[in-house]
Amino acid sequence: MASEEEVLGKAYDSRIVRRLLSYLSPYTLQVGLAMVAIVLKAGADVLGPYLTMTAIDKYMTANPGASHSFLSRLLSPEPLVGIAQVSALFLGVLLLGFLFEFTQTYMMQWTGQKVMFDLRSQLYRHLQRMDIAFFDRNPVGRLVTRVTTDVDALNEMFTSGVVSIVEDIFVLAAILAIMLTKNWRLALIAFAVMPLIIFVTQVFRKAVRDSYRRIRVAIARINSFLQEHVSGIIVLQLFNRESKSYKEFEAVNAQHMEAFKDAILAYALYYPVVEGLSSVAIACVLWYGGHMVLGHVTVLGQLTTLGTLVAFMQYAQRFFRPIQDLSEKFNILQSAMAAAERVFKLLDTEPKIQSPKVEKVPAGPGRIEFDDVWFAYRHIPVEKDGKVTPGNEWDWVLRGVSFAIEPGETVAIVGHTGAGKTTLISLLLRFYDVQQGAVRIDGVDVREMNLQELRRRCGVVLQDPFLFSGTVANNIQLGSAHVTREAVEKAAEEVNAADFIRSLPEGFDSLLQERGNTLSTGQKQLVSFARALAHDPRILILDEATSSVDTETEFRVRDALTRLVEGRTSLIIAHRLSTIQRADKIIVMHKGKVREAGTHQQLLASKGVYWKLYQLQYKDQELGAPVAIAQASPQPEAQAD
Ligand SMILES: Nc1ncnc2c1ncn2[C@@H]1O[C@H](COP(=O)(O)OP(=O)(O)O)[C@@H](O)[C@H]1O
Ligand SMILES: [Mg+2]
Repeated sequence: MASEEEVLGKAYDSRIVRRLLSYLSPYTLQVGLAMVAIVLKAGADVLGPYLTMTAIDKYMTANPGASHSFLSRLLSPEPLVGIAQVSALFLGVLLLGFLFEFTQTYMMQWTGQKVMFDLRSQLYRHLQRMDIAFFDRNPVGRLVTRVTTDVDALNEMFTSGVVSIVEDIFVLAAILAIMLTKNWRLALIAFAVMPLIIFVTQVFRKAVRDSYRRIRVAIARINSFLQEHVSGIIVLQLFNRESKSYKEFEAVNAQHMEAFKDAILAYALYYPVVEGLSSVAIACVLWYGGHMVLGHVTVLGQLTTLGTLVAFMQYAQRFFRPIQDLSEKFNILQSAMAAAERVFKLLDTEPKIQSPKVEKVPAGPGRIEFDDVWFAYRHIPVEKDGKVTPGNEWDWVLRGVSFAIEPGETVAIVGHTGAGKTTLISLLLRFYDVQQGAVRIDGVDVREMNLQELRRRCGVVLQDPFLFSGTVANNIQLGSAHVTREAVEKAAEEVNAADFIRSLPEGFDSLLQERGNTLSTGQKQLVSFARALAHDPRILILDEATSSVDTETEFRVRDALTRLVEGRTSLIIAHRLSTIQRADKIIVMHKGKVREAGTHQQLLASKGVYWKLYQLQYKDQELGAPVAIAQASPQPEAQAD
């Protein structure tokens, strides 16, 4: 995770900037207003000393004729009136300055927030479209960082960084122009410290840049550490790993602090040093300027007015402040560019699995066919020179799997853990694409179907039920407009979940916490059964849906299952063989291949893998018992213990 955060490119990358600017295009009016306000504000900023200069030279010195400024010709020749005029102008400029600053700040911040909103929405939409393999490769923490921290870095650039750089540059240019035209010799004296300041700034920037990079890396580490250890808090407490994990956290945390300490040192040194240098510059201006005013300095060959000297001292002060800021802004810009690079890289990653251009719609009643399917999640990694890289060989998980499920049939899949059962479902739902062979629904390859259409056909209940925060009813309906409240309740009724839901404080409208943590696993399982059923799918898929529920719930589910599979093509993966004995066909998966297939009786008779599994599970039980209980379970409560 750290590696991507570590990259720090240029502060200005025209390709990235052009792309960022394109996000501003819907807000050209606001941006235009802000820009105009910035230029005017810069003008107001440099006007103050100019007014002071005019007032001093025209009214307060022995030689009033010294002032040739444009403004002085417009002012009253009467000193007291003229001073009042200048003061009024000064106040006016100040007020206008406030107004421009307000306009600029408000417009820019507003636009910045809009752009961030657009960008975050775009990122989320994009993430939703990504294929499952992408999420296998990218940890959640990294994606969260993209949508939050990185977008914030861009926001900072939009609101504080770029805008004030523009303002600073305008102010600098204006001051430079005024000073050079007014008295270029005095101006050069004021700028004599510039090379030193540039040198100090370079050193400072390097130091800060390095520690900022380390800070970012440390933050990324803290984030991913926290995420993992908070999600795993139960295991942590269970095995008394608190103090060990605390020590680990402390180490990561310390990295962050150390990195910050260096930045603080750089800041603490830089600002006073620049401050000192600019004081030297001002002292020089005062020294030489003073001589010039008094007419002593003939070496420089130019005299100056008192007003110009005062204005120069004010300008010199204003000149060095933006330079300090600029170096800081440069850092903001640099991290924003790096953040933009990461964000755009994510946006440019196209989902590998998309609906095809020309879509075919299967017309049949739901026949599923796996035709010589070969599939691997990854290449077999090879180790070379101590580095592990993906090799050329596929790490096959499915090796030539072929079978068919006729419309309306119920097919069960059994096999050891890791045999590839869940993978079959992932391929049917096209979460991954096969490397060889094909998965077809009613003769149409799933790769030729519209993705949403494909997934709408299938109702899936997974081993690990996932509920969102919201009400129970919402979790069953999941926002599908075609699922009515009646359908929700009817579905809950049919999977025997209604009575437990009604016993909740607010029934179907009870609020669930995140991931439905307030329900037991069995209850969550029942809710997700109701969810699958309420959407009335043509194909029903259960992946070990009952393996983590208690016996009572299993009876309820098994009871409901008979109704669920009615008129549907069903694919049931089960751990407990009791759930599937009545399936039309049982497929036994072994090491990525179909090992056996047939009905319960046929498979038992052939005494193969299935028979062994069956023996293992029912060694200690009477063989007929589960079937007998299942048949006698219209009142599940009665069977509870
Ligand atoms: N996302 C994944 N990335 C890489 N390998 C995976 C992934 N999911 C499963 N596998 C591997 O594929 C094999 C089959 O997994 P799976 O289909 O989940 O087995 P089953 O459901 O039969 O227990 C296992 O060896 C597992 O390690
Ligand atoms: Mg599985």
